[in-house]
Amino acid sequence: MSVNHLPVHDIPALSGNNAPVSREDVFTDMEVIGQVPSDLNGLYVRNGPNAYYPPDWRYHAYDGDGMLHAVSFEHGRVTYRNRWVQTSALQEEKAAGRALWKGLKEPWRQDRPDEPLKNTSNTDIKYHAGRLISMWYRSGMPYALDPVTLETLGTADYDGAIQRISAHSRPDEHTGELLFFDYALTPPYMQYGVIGPDRKLRHHIDVELPGASLPHDMAVTEHYTILHDMPLRPDPEALAAERYKLRFFADQPSRFGIVPRYGQASEVRWFNAKPTYLLHVVNAWEDGDEVVMVGTPYRTYTDASGQLDARRLEQTIHLRQRDFLLYEWRFNLRTGQTLERVIDDVLNTEFPVINSLYQGRRNHFTYNVLFPQGGREEPRFPGLVKYDLRTGGYVAFSAGPQYFYNEPGFAPRDGAVAEDDGYLVTLVWNPVDQRSEIQIFDARGARMAEGPMARVILPRRVPHGFHATFVSQTTLDRWK
Ligand SMILES: [Fe+2]
Repeated sequence: MSVNHLPVHDIPALSGNNAPVSREDVFTDMEVIGQVPSDLNGLYVRNGPNAYYPPDWRYHAYDGDGMLHAVSFEHGRVTYRNRWVQTSALQEEKAAGRALWKGLKEPWRQDRPDEPLKNTSNTDIKYHAGRLISMWYRSGMPYALDPVTLETLGTADYDGAIQRISAHSRPDEHTGELLFFDYALTPPYMQYGVIGPDRKLRHHIDVELPGASLPHDMAVTEHYTILHDMPLRPDPEALAAERYKLRFFADQPSRFGIVPRYGQASEVRWFNAKPTYLLHVVNAWEDGDEVVMVGTPYRTYTDASGQLDARRLEQTIHLRQRDFLLYEWRFNLRTGQTLERVIDDVLNTEFPVINSLYQGRRNHFTYNVLFPQGGREEPRFPGLVKYDLRTGGYVAFSAGPQYFYNEPGFAPRDGAVAEDDGYLVTLVWNPVDQRSEIQIFDARGARMAEGPMARVILPRRVPHGFHATFVSQTTLDRWK
């Protein structure tokens, strides 16, 4: 069924608070309920889809042009700003005065082998070497943006050294490096690299895979990088017929490739684990002979015969239903064995966020977005959870079924020493008052359960989005 020519509000992915906003604004002196703490200093930035031209195609929720929404905190003062990522595709469209690409659900552009699907740069946002870097989950040219003005500074191609990276490439705040991966439908199916704090390519290797894969994230420890090759992959038979269809291979293991940070292709060691699909990593660290990784894989079910129910998992993923576990893998570098365990299967959570200073080092806490139980097509993100990874215990806050919480950022308090000494900051859709709010939670102990300590009322709504990051003032100052 074609939905061409329907007004925007008739398409679910474009209705309600999914509808794009048409303005770039700066807001200050906003109404505050509660008090914004003066020792919360830095920048929260969230990326997400926001179509520049009203889509006249079968719109998919991932199609919109990337737009950043940034909230800066300065001794109690709050400034909001939003701007589109000025990708090369958007520039072309603006020059033409109309949309030139359609989306995921429509045929891709045959006349543009360089960019058959538009690189919207709408998925993730990180801070590296003084600039914000926006990224796209299907791998594409990343873009650099000014952290204060959100002005697009250009492509982040690092002197022409890279053409593409995937969303969830990861900066290391301790070394100032950016560790990245990308993936493609043709060989090399995966690449991995490291960019230095000097914005120069320091390391780059092809990673050998048996075929096209769909990795979404990577993990880093102090000395190792963990690359993902999950058994949800583009169907090779469909690909041979030039079609793109995802298929879950329940008879294949999940594979995790551990490579020293500057290791060569021959040094990648693959570890097998139970078949599932993993979007996001919580964290990873080294523990004696083991590399430990925690993440939020899809919850798997068994059928009547006790076998993994591959169809159910496939359907869950196809329909973008949300049904996840909190899970730990331990890869033993001495024996080559993998040990795995469920940390929590009581709650259903995703979009994990940690205190970024602990990335690659053993940490105790993850802050996740809370979903209703069971997979559902309709995205409902009513609250936040703080987990203790040591015990699987948690503190949860749900504002109400129709509230929508975006991925938070963890903001360390000025002078913080403890891992959870800080705040959780996020953008929230408040369905009761039909408005968007910036909400701040005290992350210490169990205080999250008390709800937000401050709510900043935005004068216009902020559409639902994807990933976010928090950059502390200390980090911002270091690169000034
Ligand atoms: Fe993601």
